[in-house]
Formats: sequence, structure tokens, C-alpha cells
Amino acid sequence: MTLNYQFPKGFWWGSAASATQTEGSNQGDKGKNIWDHWFEIEPNRFFEGVGPDLTSDFYNRYKEDISNMKAIGHNSFRMSISWARLIPGGIGEVNPKAVTFYNNVIDELIANDIEPFVNLFHFDMPLELQEVGGWENRAVVNAYVDYAKVAFDLFGDRVKKWFTFNEPIVPVEGGYLYDFHYPNLVDAKKAIQVAYHTMIASAKAVKVYHAQYDGKIGIVLNLTPSYPRSQNPADLKASHICDLFFNRSFLDPAVKGEYPEDLIELLEEHGHLPKTEAGDQALLKENTIDLLGVNYYQPRRVKAKENLPNPYSPFMPDWFFDNYEMPGRKMNPYRGWEIYEKGIYDIMINLKENYGNIESFISENGMGVQNEERFLKNGRIEDDYRIDFIKGHLKWLHKSIEQGCNVKGYHLWTFMDNWSWMNAYKNRYGFFSVNLKTQERTAKKSAQWFAEVSRQNGFND
Ligand code: BG6
Repeated sequence: MTLNYQFPKGFWWGSAASATQTEGSNQGDKGKNIWDHWFEIEPNRFFEGVGPDLTSDFYNRYKEDISNMKAIGHNSFRMSISWARLIPGGIGEVNPKAVTFYNNVIDELIANDIEPFVNLFHFDMPLELQEVGGWENRAVVNAYVDYAKVAFDLFGDRVKKWFTFNEPIVPVEGGYLYDFHYPNLVDAKKAIQVAYHTMIASAKAVKVYHAQYDGKIGIVLNLTPSYPRSQNPADLKASHICDLFFNRSFLDPAVKGEYPEDLIELLEEHGHLPKTEAGDQALLKENTIDLLGVNYYQPRRVKAKENLPNPYSPFMPDWFFDNYEMPGRKMNPYRGWEIYEKGIYDIMINLKENYGNIESFISENGMGVQNEERFLKNGRIEDDYRIDFIKGHLKWLHKSIEQGCNVKGYHLWTFMDNWSWMNAYKNRYGFFSVNLKTQERTAKKSAQWFAEVSRQNGFND
């Protein structure tokens, strides 16, 4: 039988999750990270006062979860290692319980024919390292590289796809510009330093990996196409600057090994270039990634500024654009994010045309929905909206593949409902629902649908 949407042989079907959002923090001698700390000092900032202590208890339930992954056709799964679990405090002694846990998870995945994709950093800086400035401090870059080496040594014999960071721009935005991650600063100068050091850390980890290990290493970026309101030059300029700040600030150094000239000029003009060290340029140039994970949830729509920014206010990316609410846009009203399926295609075409058609995959895409119990029928959540969401994106992804884009897979965010940072369990994203009182997992309708898609390596519509 020929399907309308048949994907290339060996396509990666699966999902992604992160350590802090699933494992549960208060077990296995884990050190504290910034989330444990922030929740301790400001629990009121988390939806319904729910913190990272138990989350979805993957630490104890990984066997059941991996068997559920297998049941719904996963051939790959992206997890992250918690730095503070593997090396409490971030530097020094390795935690033997963490080694056993991650070995067990990796082995269990492989025993179920699910390839582990492992990410080293998903927003979760060890607290002690944040206390010395986190990514503001170049010494933390070296600590990260040591941690990466430990992880490669321990797990690299079985893990052949590594990622240095997940969405490295998010801690920059959350922690240093818009107050949704600890340390809750609003300071563009620091933000830019943090972003720069993250990329230096990534390139250093890539260097170590390429020198001594034999798989692929990449980075996961949330690419958010910047669509201008109109073709008016002022709108075009606003969207171009947005693209520089929010996409190309990481995409260009990761894939091309250099920052865009016009981003450098703009920062220089405003006295905001980061501190660099001799040798950085060559480091970036010589240590680009092999594989790019693309997280795509929503587009960014922008227009020229309505009012000029106050020149005495602190420098912010928002000096150069206003967000634009396009009339008639399709929304996910729960998360407040626009749904624009074609964005996934535009990203892939951009990678093909401007980034050497680097090998890539969709490493996150998904739909967070509040109060999903409303859709319970005979004990199961009938999430047809999620099936439509995935289908809509897969169609455009398929089209990009037909046009020669080098896309190898699709991972949903996420496997089971998990703890979403400040939003805790407000918006549910999983193929499996999680009952927080009993920790019971139940497959949603989308899980069954996805199993079939994976089995057929495509779908009809
Ligand atoms: C991505 C992150 O940005 O989006 C995940 O990699 C996150 O960690 C996911 O949970 C969904 O966003 P949110 O804010 O609804 O949790």
C-alpha cells in the first residue's frame, strides 16, 4: 500500500524529554540545580506551587516508561543528563548512583531497540556554579567541558548521538532578559556574555568529542522564523534583526563556525560586544556540529517599532522590533502560542539553502493543553487536536524532504506529561497522561495514532 505521506526508510520516530522535567530531584543523591533552589526561595512563582522534587518520577519508573515507548513505536528517544545529578556541585566527584541510573536507562532503551540521543544541558545549571556566575563566568565553561568528558567516557560506548545544549537561548532570555528562569536578571550585557560562553562551551565539547569518540555530536536549537508584518523595509529590518538575535546568534556559530557580521556590528554600535579570548574565533570555526536538532513550536511575527525606545532605558533586543499579532492567526489558546505548520518547512528550506543542508531532525514539536481531563472518554484522553497538530507539521516536513531537505526524524515534545518549569503541570504535552496523585500513566489517543505512523513509516490523509 502506498501512503500519501511516506517517510524515508529509517526515519527517527520518537520523543524528547529532559532530566529536571521528568526524573524527580529529591532522590539518588543529586546535587541541587537552579530549579531546586529557585523553587525553594520562590515557590509562588510556579504554577499551583508545584516544584521539581518529584515531577514524573522517571528515576524509579523508567522501565515502565521505556516499555511504553516501545509500545508506541519509538525507535529513538532524546533524554538529558542532569549535570547536578552526575556531578553534584558541578565539579569533582562523580555520583555512583547517577552512573548506575543513566547506565540502566541507556541499556534499557537499547534493549528495546530505541536509540538513546543524549543531551548534556537542558536549562539546569548546578546551583554552586550559578553562585559563581553560571555562564557569565568563563571558568564554568571549563567545568562544563570536564563534565561532558565524564559523560562521553561513561556512556559514549553506547550513545552515538550527543547534543551539547537544548535551546541555549532560553536560559539567556529567561535568566537575563525576561525573568522566567533563575537568576531572574534583566541585563543585556550579561545576557550576551552568557550566550557567547554557551557557544564557546559547545564548540569545546564538540572538539573533545571529535578528537576522542566516534559518534555524532550536535546541538538542539529552537528556531523561530521571524515573519515580517509586510514587505515594507522597516518591517523587513525589524524581522531581520529579530532573526539575528533569536536564531542566528546560535545557528551561525554552531553550523558555520562564525557569527553574522551584522550582528557583530549592531552589538558593537551599542557597546555590547561580549568579552572574548584569543583563539575563540578559530575554536568556533574548527568545531562545528555534525547534526542539528530543531525545536519548532511557533513562529515569531514582527513589525517595525511603533514608538522609538527610550534611549535612557537599558539596551534590549526589543529596541528593534515590536511583536505583531497577525489577524486571523491560528492559536493554541492554552499555551498562547500561534500554530503555523508551514514554519517547519520554511526552517528546513533555510537550512538547505543557507546552512549547507546540514543533517537535521525535528527534535521537539508539540502542543501543550490545559485541563486535558475534559477530553477523557472511557478512561482515555481523546486528543484529536494533538493528532491534527502533529499531522499538520508532518505534512510540511514531508514536503521539505521531497524538496531535498536533509531531515532524518521527528520527535514529539514529549513522551508523557511532565513538569514544564514555571508552568509546572499546567500544560500537558505527553503521548501518555500522568496522574500526579498515583503516577499512573495512560496512553492518549495520539499515542495509538503515533504507533501506527511509526509502524507504517508514514500516514494517509
Ligand atoms: C521547549 C523546551 O522550549 O519547550 C522544554 O525544550 C519545554 O523544556 C517545552 O518544556 C514546552 O514549553 P513549556 O514552556 O510549555 O514547557
